[in-house]
Amino acid sequence: MSGRFITFEGIDGAGKSSHIDAAADRLRASGAVVLCTREPGGTVLAEQLRELVLNAPMDALTETLLVFAARRDHLQQLILPALARGETVLCDRYTDATYAYQGGGRGLDAGLLESLELWVQQGLQPDLTLWFDVAPQVAAERRAAARSADRFEQQDLAFFERVRAAYGARMAAAPQRFVRIDSSQARSVVAADVSAAFEARGW
Ligand code: TYD
Repeated sequence: MSGRFITFEGIDGAGKSSHIDAAADRLRASGAVVLCTREPGGTVLAEQLRELVLNAPMDALTETLLVFAARRDHLQQLILPALARGETVLCDRYTDATYAYQGGGRGLDAGLLESLELWVQQGLQPDLTLWFDVAPQVAAERRAAARSADRFEQQDLAFFERVRAAYGARMAAAPQRFVRIDSSQARSVVAADVSAAFEARGW
């Protein structure tokens, strides 16, 4: 496995998505072959599962199983082959989102998530995870201005406080993998922080 796997995380409305394209441009300029993708999604099947997860009523365990089913297909069809070719994969959300949303937000048992993670991804962890962190209140204001809400975006502030806390716990457990970006800052400052995270790794 010779490529690089970089993931982007944060609560809905943190503004991560707008920085992924810029990160891709930067890495391409330094010679990398870059694949941009997202979770749930990235393959035909996983995008169909995404549609269900975001919009169809279901319980938390069903939601978790669908997220991991989508991840399995995504890994097999897209991520693992790209990494094997030596490419740089930028993924908008990955398993930290499952610990944050299904674990922190929905209250699913972390041991269950660890078991599914082991079966589905067999130890594959990102080389770098950028966590775009912002207060739920600020994120809610940004979302209200931007779009109509899916099943997650309809959740209350307490849900997003739990999701945020779970991201914090993930970072505390793997500090060398994570960089926390203060996403309440102006967009240009956030972009500079993203660049600095790559520079620090010589990328
Ligand atoms: P998001 O990545 O925010 O995309 P968009 O910017 O188009 O809304 O939406 C994906 C949603 O899926 C987000 O609310 C978090 C949720 N999600 C989970 O609950 N668990 C997961 O494991 C993943 C990958 C996403």
